[in-house]
Amino acid sequence: MAGNLGASDAVRDPRGFALKFYTADGNYDLVGNNTPVFFIKDPIKFPDFIHSQKRDPYTGITEAENVWDFWAHAPEATHQITWLFGDRGIPASYRHMNGYGSHTYQWVNEQGDAYWVKYHFKTNQGIRSLDGSQAAEVVGGDADSHQRDLHQAIERGVFPSWTLYVQLMPVAEAATYRFNPFDLTKVWPHADYPLVKVGRLVLNKNPENVFAEVEQAAFSPNNFVPGIGPSPDKMLQGRLFAYADAQRYRLGVNHTQLPVNAPRATEANNYGRDGLGALNTAGRAKNYEPNSFDGPAQTGDALAAPVRLEGHTGTYTTPAHTKDDDFFQAGELYRLMSDGEKDRLIANLAGFLAQVSREDVVEKNLAHFHAADEEYGSRLEAAVKKLRAGDDA
Ligand code: HEM
Repeated sequence: MAGNLGASDAVRDPRGFALKFYTADGNYDLVGNNTPVFFIKDPIKFPDFIHSQKRDPYTGITEAENVWDFWAHAPEATHQITWLFGDRGIPASYRHMNGYGSHTYQWVNEQGDAYWVKYHFKTNQGIRSLDGSQAAEVVGGDADSHQRDLHQAIERGVFPSWTLYVQLMPVAEAATYRFNPFDLTKVWPHADYPLVKVGRLVLNKNPENVFAEVEQAAFSPNNFVPGIGPSPDKMLQGRLFAYADAQRYRLGVNHTQLPVNAPRATEANNYGRDGLGALNTAGRAKNYEPNSFDGPAQTGDALAAPVRLEGHTGTYTTPAHTKDDDFFQAGELYRLMSDGEKDRLIANLAGFLAQVSREDVVEKNLAHFHAADEEYGSRLEAAVKKLRAGDDA
């Protein structure tokens, strides 16, 4: 996520998990990550978040100071930070990590009943991770370790697979659930919404040409097919716009006509045509709808079920559910970890946080971990102080 193209693979960072389904009804994109949650829950914070995690405008280096300064002002990030600095933060390979849709989406069944849904792609290779020193060794030997591993496994015919499970919430339960089910910084406990098995994803073929099939690929969370739609998750709503907008700059207005992005099973019947990079011009055919010349006409069929909304426009605070606080799931995740993983989590976090020179930034961050779990906060505080005292000596 934070690395540029060509950055080392075996580093502590979330990984993307973007899928394009070439369905009979057109393309469905599920643009997820290998983590079930995210750092923020309001899309207005996204550009600043990304700036803080990428290279500093003065030093040209990713600065611990900037990363932690942003997090000091984003208490909702505590859950994702706990996940990232735990063992799963550096997967041993792309084959040994899970994928998640992360957001809540809408599914509509044949009877027209809508459900809120979360996707979990569980690796059939088992979860395997690297600790910091193993990862440093891998990076030193091969910056492209994970890309090479995945490519070579598929070349050898060892096809990695993932089993897809979903969690389903009846629409009526969302309003009274104990926390906002559209909050991207939280998971739904499996005890409330158990995993339901759906199918299997197998990676059985490498791209023939990386430029045509990877660089030119455009994944956009607003590519839905009938029966699947968005939820009121604010982050998702922001993403519905952002991707296609970026792709119009990155690949041009007609990027949906590029072979990797074009639908396979159906002919694209729309009036998006001509202009820069157009591959399919429709000759004399009319370019507006409706028309009296047998051009494609919209069906008017709903793609997803209507969602009843209440609230305000403009900048406002979402009304709280009874348990919307930013810390309790970070605490639950900490308490789920084995003693060994807790030790590694504290060491990973302390090593990074101790690099921050501003005392107030360190203090604000420590307060978040104290709020998550008192033992977690105290252990981290002691470890950071020890490292900083060592630096002063
Ligand atoms: C408001 C929050 C977010 C915004 C505005 C945003 C925006 C973007 C943009 C503009 C791109 C580049 C698109 C392109 O050029 O094709 C991108 C890539 C990507 N984003 Fe996000 N993003 C957000 C949050 C997320 C979240 C929460 C996830 C995962 C759950 C995610 C997963 C990805 C992935 C996997 C890619 C790379 C897709 C590919 O392989 O082409 N993003 N994001």
